[in-house]
Amino acid sequence: MSAWGVIKTAFFTLLTAGFFFIIWIHNPFAHKEVYELPEEAEGIVNDPKSAVEGRTLFKQSCSSCHSVRYDGMYLLSLEARPEWEKLLKTMGKPIIEKEGEKVNIKGYYLPRDVYEAVALQDLENLKASFGKVPPDLSTIYLARGAGYLYHFILDPQKVLPGTSMPKLFFPEYDKEAHIKVAKIVAYLKSVSEPPPSEKAKRVVMGVVTVGYFLVMGVILWFYRRRVLERMGLH
Ligand code: HEC
Repeated sequence: MSAWGVIKTAFFTLLTAGFFFIIWIHNPFAHKEVYELPEEAEGIVNDPKSAVEGRTLFKQSCSSCHSVRYDGMYLLSLEARPEWEKLLKTMGKPIIEKEGEKVNIKGYYLPRDVYEAVALQDLENLKASFGKVPPDLSTIYLARGAGYLYHFILDPQKVLPGTSMPKLFFPEYDKEAHIKVAKIVAYLKSVSEPPPSEKAKRVVMGVVTVGYFLVMGVILWFYRRRVLERMGLH
């Protein structure tokens, strides 16, 4: 191989290795978390049972303003409508939950455009009261991370000065406030992350895809050599 060839090979090898390093191992460009999750909250945030309790807490404290469409959780005002159930079943996709052998329908997923069209009046009312529509929280965990959410829910003004999101938990009066907030974060985490079986499947898919390209690359490289040899160019 010529010197130029060596340089080219080294360059592209480094580029490829760097790419996979960033997406799989460490991304120096990722948003750095400034808000730390306290140690006692960490166990709760990662516990699937807490996530289930967090769902109930979310429904009580948050679903008057926020939806979580990925989990089939909609504004309370919508769920009070007489035709709501029928609409979900007609327009929605069932969200399946597996418990061992048992398969339950946990709720219905509505595409964003359908949801926003149906909920328009309710969303406008919220906007009139709070200056902006409280966002759907299906993927907020991925965008903000556990530490931010924990501190934000506990004291919105401290994290986002001027926000119209109200403070809902008061550790001064409620000894459980910190635990409840951690459970809500656990819930938001469980919604935005795929279940473990799905995660494993994605890793396998990733490895198979990269493996396929590597094997094809090697085969093509040998094939190219053979063709060049036959043409008398090698
Ligand atoms: C009375 C209405 C109301 C309730 C109840 C409410 N929120 Fe909010 N929330 C808002 C509004 C309005 C915003 C948009 C605030 C902004 O962008 O300034 C918001 C924003 C948020 C955000 C996004 C913050 C960001 O950085 O973008 C999160 C997360 C959130 N709320 C979580 C919750 C949780 C969890 C609960 C229940 C414990 C809850 N909210 C209850 C009105 C509400």
